[in-house]
Amino acid sequence: MNNNFLLEFLYKEYTSLMNDSQLSGLIKNIAVSCRKISNLLDKGNLNNIFGKYNKINVQGEMQAKLDVIANDIIVDENNCIGSLAGLASEEMEDFYRIPDDYKTGDYLLLFDPLDGSSNIDVNISVGTIFSILRINRKINNNKEIIINDFLQPGINQIAAGYAIYGPQTSIVISLGKGVHSFTLDKNINEWILDNKLMNIPNCTNEFSINSSNSRHWDENIYNYVQDCLIGTDGPLRKNYNMRWTGSMVADVHRIMTRGGIFLYPWDSRNPSIPGKLRLMYEANPMAFLVEQAGGIASNGNKRILEIIPEKLHQRTSVILGSSDEVNILLRSYINTY
Ligand code: AHG
Ligand code: MN
Ligand code: MN
Repeated sequence: MNNNFLLEFLYKEYTSLMNDSQLSGLIKNIAVSCRKISNLLDKGNLNNIFGKYNKINVQGEMQAKLDVIANDIIVDENNCIGSLAGLASEEMEDFYRIPDDYKTGDYLLLFDPLDGSSNIDVNISVGTIFSILRINRKINNNKEIIINDFLQPGINQIAAGYAIYGPQTSIVISLGKGVHSFTLDKNINEWILDNKLMNIPNCTNEFSINSSNSRHWDENIYNYVQDCLIGTDGPLRKNYNMRWTGSMVADVHRIMTRGGIFLYPWDSRNPSIPGKLRLMYEANPMAFLVEQAGGIASNGNKRILEIIPEKLHQRTSVILGSSDEVNILLRSYINTY
């Protein structure tokens, strides 16, 4: 597989960035990894990939077999290509150093190998999320990388994207000049451009939240969702639809395609944790894409991309999507705090 169409397009749109062979090589290999994961998923449990791995990951969650398989595919595909100084993943407690016998590069790859793992066994869309940072050689010009190399705010991302494994397999990616979508044509093993510039409509009447947690929400989230439910009788003066898949990739992809607002806020089930989703490899790459497509991504008080991370597996509250709608909710936070 050459990924010719995908790379050709990116070379045209981002010539100077893509002339860096470390970056173009990395993007090429991420696309190869995602195609491999997609092929595995195609055959479902015929490949004996369903079920649990019986190990608890650093998040305190039981790993699915596919969490581990997808993680290994991405590490194995990318650790030897000479583009990376290190990798970090939802499924690895510590960051991954490139083995001594491999060439290293200047980039860092952070990823959620399998997003929405609870949906694997029930044939609902899942995804892979990735974020690419560049190591700051002014701060660290050693070969040895340290945790601080990874702890950069999302605005520093060179590229970010996700693959969605749904009725179609697609890669949605941005290198900072808009968001581009490619769908995998498995007959010719190529990613074909299907949307040159994704654009999130400013207005929406679709919200996305796990409302089984409503009794634990803060009052801003609770009141906003109540207003959505009241519809034309309430202050928002329109009726809303609701969607929640349990895969952030699927919910964000819907928003990237037709607009909407996605919320996974802090809640009082575990008050010391700022939210469920992870900043470095879930919220940051999605926030980058959403902003590049004209939307907003916030934790309620701050732009997600400006959060200075303190830990690799740091969590955050997430509110993202259509700008007018996100702003309606953010105004209530401004009034409260
Ligand atoms: P992951 O499978 O990578 O752990 O991520 C699951 C995340 C995210 O994809 C989704 O939006 C959210 O968890 C769903 O959480 P609930 O089951 O609490 O609704
Ligand atoms: Mn995830
Ligand atoms: Mn995951």
